[in-house]
Amino acid sequence: MKTLQDLDVAGRTVLVRSDLNVPLAQADGVPTITDDGRIQASLPTIRTLSQGGARVVIVAHLGRPKGEVVEELSLAPVAARMSDLLGQPVTFSAATTGSEAAAEVRSMSDGDVLVLENIRFDARETSKDPAERQALARELADLADVYVSDGFGVVHREQASVTDVARLLPHAAGQLVGAETEVFRKVLDDPERPYVVILGGSKVSDKLGVIGNLLQSVDRLLIGGGMCFTFLAAQGHPVGDSLLESDQIETVRAVLADAVARGVDVVLPIDVVVADDFSPDARTRVVAADAIPDGWRGLDIGPGTVELFRERLADARTIVWNGPMGVFEMAAFENGTRSVAEAVADADAFTVIGGGDSAAAVRQFGIDDDRFSHISTGGGASLEFLEGKTLPGIAVLEES
Ligand code: 3PG
Repeated sequence: MKTLQDLDVAGRTVLVRSDLNVPLAQADGVPTITDDGRIQASLPTIRTLSQGGARVVIVAHLGRPKGEVVEELSLAPVAARMSDLLGQPVTFSAATTGSEAAAEVRSMSDGDVLVLENIRFDARETSKDPAERQALARELADLADVYVSDGFGVVHREQASVTDVARLLPHAAGQLVGAETEVFRKVLDDPERPYVVILGGSKVSDKLGVIGNLLQSVDRLLIGGGMCFTFLAAQGHPVGDSLLESDQIETVRAVLADAVARGVDVVLPIDVVVADDFSPDARTRVVAADAIPDGWRGLDIGPGTVELFRERLADARTIVWNGPMGVFEMAAFENGTRSVAEAVADADAFTVIGGGDSAAAVRQFGIDDDRFSHISTGGGASLEFLEGKTLPGIAVLEES
């Protein structure tokens, strides 16, 4: 896989695929970026290219507009925030391809940075038909001399601006894709032991692939979040009104049996914070994990579980955490996620936070990024990496 060092960029137009898919809140109809972590993470590559005299053209998506122009999903506010963070002007092009975008690119000077409008406003970006994607990729390639892939959060997607365009231009991995790939390869191929993975999040069905692969390598698997209730049910415990995927109970039983056969220690909650409603003002209680009463739902791991998880993390040398322990967006149910985040931050280990909700939680709690070895920008991408899948956006960079 080539890197930026392998490219000669001075005076050339470089198309950079970044992942600028940041969370937005609408404040009085004005979109406001609530977490700019992904914009920040995209800056080193953009800065390196710009300082190297490249004309930097950024292609990215925001949300899932499904081929329609959705004004609230415009990248204009993202370009503005990027300009503030970069400390230099960033031009925004309302067109993604075609003569208008080409004119914007022609007017650039060496070192300039331009952000193209949301590529997913064009239905060909995510089309299942390779010919449609290739047609869009050709239009993107016409704008530039070189392609740099730096959107780690989208490398698991077979999409025009991720894979097809890489086949049309000399290409390299950007610094973010390089760094993320190195971290996940290290964890997959050569983790220092004990190797402990903490998994949470709501749906167990989304995590079965990753669990299957992890059982071949981890020493311990700690499970919290909404998905733990399907595990508790698989052990025969009542889960009240908690999230439950009853069609997965048999599969989860097989997973537990496989873990025993492989000697992997699967650690489930021993107590749970239950509520009588899914609401910040619900009545709450802490109950044993094997005695969730009818009419109550588990919305966080309990204090006993926090202690147990802390204990099981104490001697770890590698920790990967993906998925919140509870509904951390509500203060009444944030303690489990906050405590696990603190425990990972305190650990004397190589620590990796999966992207998406876990990274958002770390930022919500104001825990310094430096207390972790790596905070990934990829949600789905980091999970698929851990699942051992081939990621098309990485594989294509390995082609010459
Ligand atoms: C993400 O948010 O994980 C990435 O930006 C990919 O977005 P997608 O799941 O809509 O492809």
